[in-house]
Amino acid sequence: MPITNAQEKFVHELADMYDAEHQFLEAMGRMREMASDESLRMMLEEHMQQTEEQIQNLEEVFAELGEEPKRQECMGAKGLIDEGARMMEEVSSPELRDSVIAGAATKAEHYEMVGYADLIDGAEMLKKRKALRLLEQNREQESSAARRLERIAPRLGRAAA
Ligand SMILES: [Fe+2]
Repeated sequence: MPITNAQEKFVHELADMYDAEHQFLEAMGRMREMASDESLRMMLEEHMQQTEEQIQNLEEVFAELGEEPKRQECMGAKGLIDEGARMMEEVSSPELRDSVIAGAATKAEHYEMVGYADLIDGAEMLKKRKALRLLEQNREQESSAARRLERIAPRLGRAAA
């Protein structure tokens, strides 16, 4: 779709994030299946629930802009997911796999945080107050998920060593 103004740019980025959230939701389901560590599994489970809410938030943002929700294939998310999946296939122990999963999930959270920061700037510029609040809520959830993953990563790394 052509981008000729700030609102179109915003909608394009929104469609990209909307797709990324769907892709990550699916990927987290696969990671949860493959994870052994109980707290890692729980964390993924909880963040999957949050991601479902985030998808609804994005749908409300589309609505505020008078747009139908649409997915624009997010190549960044796809690349991160493919990279994580390849490593998960190559690891030789469940402990190493957990450590790989935590690392891949943390990268995804940081990628999402940057995406939300851009969207928040866009919503501010377009003076979409409700969208701004919803996007800030999503970014906060991503950053707390990243912090929680970073807290358990050293323990998982030691177990894998
Ligand atoms: Fe996330």
